[in-house]
Amino acid sequence: MRLLPVLLLGLFFLSGANAGENSGLPPLPVSADNPQSAAKVALGRQLFNDQRFSGDGTISCASCHLPEKAFTDGLPVARGIDGQTGTRNAPTVVNAAFYTRLFLDGRAPSLEKQALGPFVNPIEHGLQDHQQIVDVVRRDAGYREQFHNVFGITAKQITIDHVVKAIASFERTLIAGDSPFDRYYFGRDRTALSDSAARGLRIFRRKGNCANCHEISWNNALFTDNQFYNIGVGFQRLQPVMDEFLQALRDGRDPRQFELSAWQRSELGRFNVTRVIADIGKFRTPTLRNIARTGPYMHDGSVETLEEVVEYYDQGGEKNRFLDAAIFPLHLTDQEKQDLVAFLQSLTSPQYQASEK
Ligand code: HEC
Ligand code: HEC
Repeated sequence: MRLLPVLLLGLFFLSGANAGENSGLPPLPVSADNPQSAAKVALGRQLFNDQRFSGDGTISCASCHLPEKAFTDGLPVARGIDGQTGTRNAPTVVNAAFYTRLFLDGRAPSLEKQALGPFVNPIEHGLQDHQQIVDVVRRDAGYREQFHNVFGITAKQITIDHVVKAIASFERTLIAGDSPFDRYYFGRDRTALSDSAARGLRIFRRKGNCANCHEISWNNALFTDNQFYNIGVGFQRLQPVMDEFLQALRDGRDPRQFELSAWQRSELGRFNVTRVIADIGKFRTPTLRNIARTGPYMHDGSVETLEEVVEYYDQGGEKNRFLDAAIFPLHLTDQEKQDLVAFLQSLTSPQYQASEK
């Protein structure tokens, strides 16, 4: 008796996963105080592309998140105003709506809060404060009309909160599933993957241990568990100062007072947010959807190709005292490595299939 509803529910999920551009993805999370609307999305798209919101009038969000590169920039580390570079690789915005915490160290709790960051980051948009954006928006007749239509407010009532709500709504439309993997795994189309990619899927879930963190659920796959891990990438930058740094923490010193280069500070990862020693060098598991289009890889852009990524994991990652226990030498054969790469290449959604690279 009790089985029927369960079965029906199962059928519902399965059919939901069968076809269409969002197949393989869970329902879109939308915050209650920022419902989606077509007009808000259109406004958000315009704001995302507006270069006036930068110190030198040359940078928009789209400068580092380019549609033709699956919303990345193809560079190891991002380049902002006056050609300045940071210490982190620009991740894709596609499917970022599914992350429970934004930024590679999870320092922003929502897309809305995330969007506040780049505008006032001195090497990204390089603005003094958010008021500069509000001023541009209030002076622009087109924006005034759109903010009125979308939020029902006058020019004087426009705040940065309205701006980031519209941007977040646009970002929630950058959703992509329906890759060959989805058609094979959820749609049960056995022709969707090559034999090599299908073998790669098995390695991904078993011998490679990849799905331990890059999760595949029974009815959807985000390829992230939204958790943070130290997989060793870039840790060599911290190694020379680690003993001294840990001693300083034990002595009760404020880690912000401890002298580190910008690169070293960046390598602390999740620790910068939580101040928990066990979080040193941890980064959030990134999605692997459209991964063939979003290189170079890792938080510091230090890994150029998917072949090198697989090689990195095969070696068991870069040793350090915080390395996660799920990272260990895999002893993959050359064929298994090729299969794993073929699988990663099967995660590209149709709308990013055609883009160059
Ligand atoms: C100068 C290049 C640059 C610009 C301009 C820029 N970003 Fe980013 N973006 C990055 C980098 C680098 C990161 C990763 C930073 C980190 O995690 O510390 C990032 C992270 C993000 C993330 C988080 C993704 C994730 O995986 O958690 C989102 C969403 C995002 N940016 C959206 C935007 C929006 C919206 C704008 C405009 C307001 C913008 N970006 C402007 C480079 C840029
Ligand atoms: C212990 C958890 C864990 C395991 C196991 C794991 N990963 Fe990762 N993966 C991560 C984290 C965390 C990152 C981000 C690290 C960084 O940016 O420095 C990452 C990054 C990546 C990236 C780069 C993504 C990007 O956008 O830059 C690829 C590709 C990748 N992993 C594939 C794999 C494959 C293939 C396996 C199995 C051989 C695997 N991962 C096993 C946690 C894991």
